[in-house]
Amino acid sequence: MTTDTLDIKITQTQNSRLQQTDFANLPFGKIFTDHMLVADYADGEWKNFEIVPYGDIALSPAISSLHYGQAFFEGLKAYKHADGKVSVFRPEKNGARFNKSAERLCMPELPVDLFVNSIAALVDVERDWAPTQAGHSLYIRPFMFATDPYLGVTPSKTYKFMVLTCPVGPYFTKPLRVKFETHYTRAAEGGFGYAKAAGNYGGSMLPFKKAADEGFDQIIWTDAKEHLYAEEMGAANVMFVLDGKLVTPSTRDTILDGITRDTVLTLARDWGMPVEERRVSIAEIVEGAKSGKLTDAFGAGTAATIAPVGAIHHEGTDYTLSEPTTREFSQKVLKTLDAIRYGAAEDTHGWNHLVG
Ligand code: PLP
Ligand code: COI
Repeated sequence: MTTDTLDIKITQTQNSRLQQTDFANLPFGKIFTDHMLVADYADGEWKNFEIVPYGDIALSPAISSLHYGQAFFEGLKAYKHADGKVSVFRPEKNGARFNKSAERLCMPELPVDLFVNSIAALVDVERDWAPTQAGHSLYIRPFMFATDPYLGVTPSKTYKFMVLTCPVGPYFTKPLRVKFETHYTRAAEGGFGYAKAAGNYGGSMLPFKKAADEGFDQIIWTDAKEHLYAEEMGAANVMFVLDGKLVTPSTRDTILDGITRDTVLTLARDWGMPVEERRVSIAEIVEGAKSGKLTDAFGAGTAATIAPVGAIHHEGTDYTLSEPTTREFSQKVLKTLDAIRYGAAEDTHGWNHLVG
């Protein structure tokens, strides 16, 4: 099926929850819009693209996504502009990454134009749900899961593709106290850390819980082999400004190739800032924090946006960084990104996909 033949059946809800929704209080991922998109994969093709009222779905208890984790997701956002237009940020990048995850988990690819157009159609139906307050957006959660009712450990022959949307506010509301995680591992070489596999997130919950119990807001994952190099921060990429350079771990099979990360690197290069994508050691970050050469540190992700690190803990010591509002680089990134996404600045890279 190509875009030209993508025919989405739309069934409007009779009971919109829009008027009852408190837009001044939007916890991440708890409030869903009125509709969702559903499509099926069977007999080697994608079909039955439908936008239906949001609600529960019936499934066999034997589906292999529940037993063996043949499931993955994406995350992206739509923004409402001052003139009422609504745009989705870089959806074709998520579409390409969607297919990398699909390939790693032996699941069928979804042509990027079908991915983008499915999302655009749903966001268009839900455009009144896109919040208007600063820092708010419509979070979009596409996902795919195996639906064969079969307990054999082999790839399913049938799948569902679905998209949910949630109006959201900021994911983090204060600078983060983080630690380098040197015991647990998020991903190892040859594994699937580069995919947005559901299992990567299930496996992160115990390390997060333990870190939270110790008073940390997030962890910086380190490499599986030696635990000497930074990889990612929670469910976001990690970036540092060290000695005037933007430094971030280079992508590899243990690291999710983040779209926010790519966006920040592109802006930095536009501004003539030196950029280094390479292995980043704990030792140099701690050294930079001690010497004052580490002037910025933040997580970069769709949900996280640009999440400033307030303090980095390592081996019994907290290294406190400067007050986030005084940090030149991440403040400029945040301001520039917001201006582009909310349509207040020229979108020179063509990142906004307008819907409707
Ligand atoms: N790393 C992980 C593990 C993530 O879950 C995310 C969130 O999507 C990111 C990085 C950031 O990626 P993106 O900027 O594409 O949202
Ligand atoms: C996203 O930023 O979309 C993520 O994947 C983070 C999510 C797991 C909360």
